[in-house]
Amino acid sequence: MIILAIETSCDESAVAVTKDGRTILAEEIYSQADKHALYGGVVPEIASRNHAAVIGNLADLVMKKSGLSKSDIDAIAVTYTPGLIGALLVGVNFAKGLALALGVPLIPVHHIRGHVAANYIAEPELEPPFLCLIASGGSSLIADVRGYTDICIIGRTRDDAAGECFDKTARALGLGYPGGPALDLLAQTGDDSLFNLPRPVIDGAPYDMSFSGLKTAVVNIVHNAEQRGEEIDKSSLAASLTAAVSDIVVPRVIKAATEFGRDKIAIAGGVAANSRIRADFVKAAESQGKTLIIPPLSLCGDNAAMIGCQGYYEYIAGARAGMDLNAYATTDVNVGYSADRR
Ligand code: KG4
Repeated sequence: MIILAIETSCDESAVAVTKDGRTILAEEIYSQADKHALYGGVVPEIASRNHAAVIGNLADLVMKKSGLSKSDIDAIAVTYTPGLIGALLVGVNFAKGLALALGVPLIPVHHIRGHVAANYIAEPELEPPFLCLIASGGSSLIADVRGYTDICIIGRTRDDAAGECFDKTARALGLGYPGGPALDLLAQTGDDSLFNLPRPVIDGAPYDMSFSGLKTAVVNIVHNAEQRGEEIDKSSLAASLTAAVSDIVVPRVIKAATEFGRDKIAIAGGVAANSRIRADFVKAAESQGKTLIIPPLSLCGDNAAMIGCQGYYEYIAGARAGMDLNAYATTDVNVGYSADRR
């Protein structure tokens, strides 16, 4: 089954053509990061306008790269939630137009389910059940993936997402947006014990997480140093922050896998690209005898291939949208698409 997939939930405009869920035939990702860097974060209207400007050309390019013709497309998959509402609407309406013009089904895909599905592309043998961390700029979730469309969230951040810590720290340090990759590089040469940063535990909720105290602690360290006119050891601050994020997520995921009886662990989302966090997961999984699936960097951040992959499994499960498909800023991962939702 050939699916043309569209992703426009934040600041990446992405189109892919996938085959039977797990094979990428062609893909394009246009990152708008430089357009938002000036503001230190994503500006929703700029994101929507840029999606509108490029999405048609990206689809043309991907079709050319795939070597297929329009009549080969069996369905259109699109991210309809969660994300920036204006940005999502560009993708949803473009997808509707394509589905209508080609006379093929329209498959609504939850962005977070797409992140989980990136692992099916990374590891063709992977099948549920498994435990999965999804850590991105907007979400930090621990999911028990019981089936391709049966995903139970067992832990979530109570406040900010892990990626937000990286982005706001980078902004305070003048490293631009997005902050994760720059901090990852800086951390390589830092001392991760130089700054004593919080690793909060939430009473009675062993898999829930909190990152806002960590973010505030790091930003305060930077501002206090600036006020005193002191030089800050940026590398060690980056290393200390990354160690704290890793100490928050890795043990929770390992513990959850053991408690839920899962022998496979996967990670997903932009923060899963972090080299320290990846290395810590490798060590922890090895020591607990768990199989670890880590997507390549290209599949950690937002992309349309993961939407095509999850779209395939949503299609098999019967998900179809009509021309009244809308976009939603937030939707629970557990809840599948319902045409009644208006
Ligand atoms: O999944 P993603 O591309 O977009 C969302 O759906 O949010 O994640 C973006 C987030 C940003 O906060 C970015 O700073 C972070 O992922 N990120 C990283 C790294 N690469 C991207 N964080 C830590 N280390 C990285 N290497």
